[in-house]
Amino acid sequence: MKTIFYLPEDKKLADELAYKTNFELGRAEIRQFPDGENYIRIDSDVQDKTIFLICRLDHPNKKILNIFFLSHTLKKLGAKKIFLISPYLPYMRQDKSFKQGEAITSVLFADFLSNCIDQLITIDPHLHRFKKLSEIYSIPTITLHLDQLISEWIKKNTTDPFLIGPDEESQPWVSEIANHLSIPFIILEKTRRSDNEVVISLPNITYEEGRTPVIIDDIISTGSSMLATINELSLKGFSNTICIATHALFDDEIYKKLLNAGAGIVISSNSIEHLTNKIDITDLLTDEMIRC
Ligand code: R5P
Repeated sequence: MKTIFYLPEDKKLADELAYKTNFELGRAEIRQFPDGENYIRIDSDVQDKTIFLICRLDHPNKKILNIFFLSHTLKKLGAKKIFLISPYLPYMRQDKSFKQGEAITSVLFADFLSNCIDQLITIDPHLHRFKKLSEIYSIPTITLHLDQLISEWIKKNTTDPFLIGPDEESQPWVSEIANHLSIPFIILEKTRRSDNEVVISLPNITYEEGRTPVIIDDIISTGSSMLATINELSLKGFSNTICIATHALFDDEIYKKLLNAGAGIVISSNSIEHLTNKIDITDLLTDEMIRC
């Protein structure tokens, strides 16, 4: 028997997944006491059941304590196995101590989650210095990929596209999508000077009328990587750049900046709920949940 639990902010996603998988929705009371401390009560029989805990872990700090409380309570009540479905996996970018004394939060967060749940399902996590989640997660993990869905969107919505990856990390997915569509791609060099400042160097490409530049990145957060890339493309004469991100972590101000800088359209997947969502992940998750 498989049951879906969710954090309150992910009710819509959980309802959709329950509808598509035909798995039951578990009942839980999750709220805060007046002093801000969390209250959790599981109100369903979970004995020997496989649990899918749905939680989009963008802005993770305000959610992870509930994951901890829920998973340990579910286990105490006899749940057989707990899968966490976190389409966006946070804390993957601090994968090194860049300065003396810095916490490598990728490793610490992985350790924390590995001690809460039995298995993790996620989509295109940011893998740079760590090449596989198994290097830092001690539980089994399932990584799903969006390249097929992004390829389909590009095919349907663009004419004569060429793909741009803003940095070396983007090479795997950009090359995959370009090969899939048999279209050209370039990978840029990026230097990050601070949280909000990056420098991009664009190779010597020549402007050709009618070609559509499509930047694909896994994350848009401060927007600096996209903005710098759009600006470089504009200097070469390209306009209406299409910006695609798997995980949209950016706010409205940054969205406006991207459009003002020359983005024709900015799209993302609903791994995180966002006004730019155009690529739906629910079928991808449903298929995996049914296989588990
Ligand atoms: C990092 O290398 C990632 O692949 C993204 O390029 C990065 O996280 C985007 O962040 P921002 O929008 O802050 O430039």
